[in-house]
Amino acid sequence: MVTRELLLARRGRINPDSFADYRAAGGYRALEEWLTRRTPEAFIEELKRSGLKGRGGAWFPTGLKLEMARGSESPRFMVCNADEGEPGTCKDRVLLEEDPHSVLEGLILAAWAVGSHRGILYLRGEYAHLAPRLEHALRQAEQAHLLGDDILGTGYSLHVELYLGAGAYVCGEETALLNSVEGLRGEPRLRPPYPTQRGLFGWPTVVNNVETLANLPVIAAYGGEWFRHIGHPDCPGTKLFSLVGDVKRPGVVEAPIGVSLEQLIEEAAGGVSGPWPVKWVQIGGACGGVLGKGRLPIDWHGVTLDPQALKALGAGLGTGSVLVCDSTRCPVDVARSLARFFARESCGYCTPCREGSLQILRALDRLATGIGRRQDVDNLDVLTRVMQAASRCALGQSAPVGLRGLLTHFRDEIEAHLLGRCPSGSCPMAEKPAGRDRTGAVAARHVAAAVRGGRAET
Ligand SMILES: Cc1cc2nc3c(=O)[nH]c(=O)nc-3n(C[C@H](O)[C@H](O)[C@H](O)COP(=O)(O)O)c2cc1C
Ligand code: SF4
Repeated sequence: MVTRELLLARRGRINPDSFADYRAAGGYRALEEWLTRRTPEAFIEELKRSGLKGRGGAWFPTGLKLEMARGSESPRFMVCNADEGEPGTCKDRVLLEEDPHSVLEGLILAAWAVGSHRGILYLRGEYAHLAPRLEHALRQAEQAHLLGDDILGTGYSLHVELYLGAGAYVCGEETALLNSVEGLRGEPRLRPPYPTQRGLFGWPTVVNNVETLANLPVIAAYGGEWFRHIGHPDCPGTKLFSLVGDVKRPGVVEAPIGVSLEQLIEEAAGGVSGPWPVKWVQIGGACGGVLGKGRLPIDWHGVTLDPQALKALGAGLGTGSVLVCDSTRCPVDVARSLARFFARESCGYCTPCREGSLQILRALDRLATGIGRRQDVDNLDVLTRVMQAASRCALGQSAPVGLRGLLTHFRDEIEAHLLGRCPSGSCPMAEKPAGRDRTGAVAARHVAAAVRGGRAET
């Protein structure tokens, strides 16, 4: 069995609106044990022992982050990042929707560990339908004296508020998120200082991802040593993988970190849905690296999903989404939809990202519609490099990663578009006549075909 469910164990087995169901399944017991009998410092040590790393995409060691904040001045803030705007990633939503108390229990444990009395749950604007469920869960926890003043008679107090984002992808970036909560424009801040030093309203703040926090009750219950033996030695635990694209059973599954890509797709996702072979796989979201020709499907068997192994292949685990593209997918068409997303979501603060993402989109638009020039392909190389090197925040720095991967693996196919030909036959060029062609040959073929009432042979 490729899957292992630590975080999703209760999915579909409890009523997410029922506090009693969560309690009956063992929920909040670990929190009670720690808050009434142990110390925050010991919990941070337990987290460090577990080797847990943040699941929001940056993979920063969680115990270390909490320790850094605890050592800072107070008051301190604790933020749960539930902004989840990465295209193709929907894992946090599953936790919030199916097991909201597990995220709250993690949030309370983290806040207690850093000595924070104010918590914020920052929810993605598009997940507004989950707000009533989360508000309900917060009220239930308050009634059970697990939130509010003097939690469980320990003297420790924590008040958590729900904030709804307004739909900007960049507000998932932790410092833009903090600006958004402060009522400022959702623009990333320069770092240092890091949020653990100067965060919300200038006070030390820990921002953790939903999935990261959901791991805390598991570690609190079973211990760091136990956790450390699950998954990959350098990166312990399980991961929620969002399986999307050309697979038979898209969805969210939980598997140990280090699982093989082949197993995940063949067993958990039911295999590839479109024509074999797999052309490429993009891992870690829209900003993720591409495993393509020369690696798949030839080396398919050897690819394991852990940060170290993927780094060696020029990719990363990111948010854990796995986008499978079958042999009919056109790299220009897919790159174009990624570019459209980034051009829309750039916050506009810095020129390389604001202008670069727009110019990349325009070049890909021209290539996909048959009016591309050699200079467009050359510009894609230059623009992606400049964006990566000169953008102010991780959005602009990582947005071109997928496109660069496609350029590396499928340059021939991308350049074929200069001759008015889409080898995959799946981008707009394959559907409608080219508008202009510098040699005139392609346009002439399309005109002739239009006169005949058929499609041009390209
Ligand atoms: C453009 C951008 C968007 C991001 N979106 C999210 C998000 O939706 N959720 C999230 O947890 N982290 C997101 N992050 C990462 C956060 O900045 C931060 O690293 C994370 O919330 C820290 O939590 P962790 O240590 O538990 O992973 C994003 C980063 C960038 C650059
Ligand atoms: S890189 Fe993009 S998102 Fe980041 S600050 Fe610059 S314009 Fe804004």
